[in-house]
Amino acid sequence: MPTAAIIGASRGIGLELARQYAADGWRVHATTRTPQRPGALGEISGDVHIHEIEVTDRAQQRALGAALAGEAVDVLIHNAGVYGTWMRTATVNRINAEAPIEVAEALMDAVQRSEQKKIALISSQVGARRGSARSLGKYGDSKAALNDRFRAVEGDWRAAGCLAVVIHPGWVRTDMGGSSATLSVEESARGIRRVMAELDASRHGRFWTWNGREHPW
Ligand SMILES: NC(=O)c1ccc[n+]([C@@H]2O[C@H](COP(=O)([O-])OP(=O)(O)OC[C@H]3O[C@@H](n4cnc5c(N)ncnc54)[C@H](OP(=O)(O)O)[C@@H]3O)[C@@H](O)[C@H]2O)c1
Repeated sequence: MPTAAIIGASRGIGLELARQYAADGWRVHATTRTPQRPGALGEISGDVHIHEIEVTDRAQQRALGAALAGEAVDVLIHNAGVYGTWMRTATVNRINAEAPIEVAEALMDAVQRSEQKKIALISSQVGARRGSARSLGKYGDSKAALNDRFRAVEGDWRAAGCLAVVIHPGWVRTDMGGSSATLSVEESARGIRRVMAELDASRHGRFWTWNGREHPW
């Protein structure tokens, strides 16, 4: 069976992605900042391996790359992110815009060893600059910066043999999305997995929604 790596799987969409891939029989590498207290992640049955990473920590990025050195990661999904209401702008950017690229590059060897070689960075529709005259806010700015950074590296990632996209997961009922959101984590994760299953060279380098639509950016 193929292997998935889900970065930021302690709760919300990331936890559900880990659960669904494991339920389908995939080998799953799932990360949390608190492996000593894995919570619901520790209760997933199947071929699940829990790793520690605070995504902004360069040493932990390298350690995760080393931990997966013998692995082949078919699908890498960088899901970790913050809304960051009470955080400094620089911290929100570090987590949402810089870390996803750094973590993906730290795991690039493991992705390249795999058959599928697919990468997704979870972004947000509020990071789409096109059509937005207003300020995007701290969170939207950080996701727009992530999209910009992705556009800057996707050519190199393609040349390295990978297929990579950014994905808007929908408005999802999680700690971040709140209870009024329109989608369950099950629906969002199912959609993201479908986008990844259908990812081919013609779809690489673009911005997709959980339900398979291309998003303007
Ligand atoms: N929910 C929505 O409606 C929505 C809409 C658009 C985009 N998104 C994006 O979708 C992704 C997942 O969102 P969600 O709703 O599932 O959020 P969530 O329930 O708040 O979960 C966020 C996840 O990211 C992890 N994380 C945050 N900062 C981290 C860091 N510095 N290092 C490592 N892990 C970190 C959290 O770990 P801890 O448990 O350790 O905090 C948690 O596992 C995010 O990128 C978010 O921006 C969500």
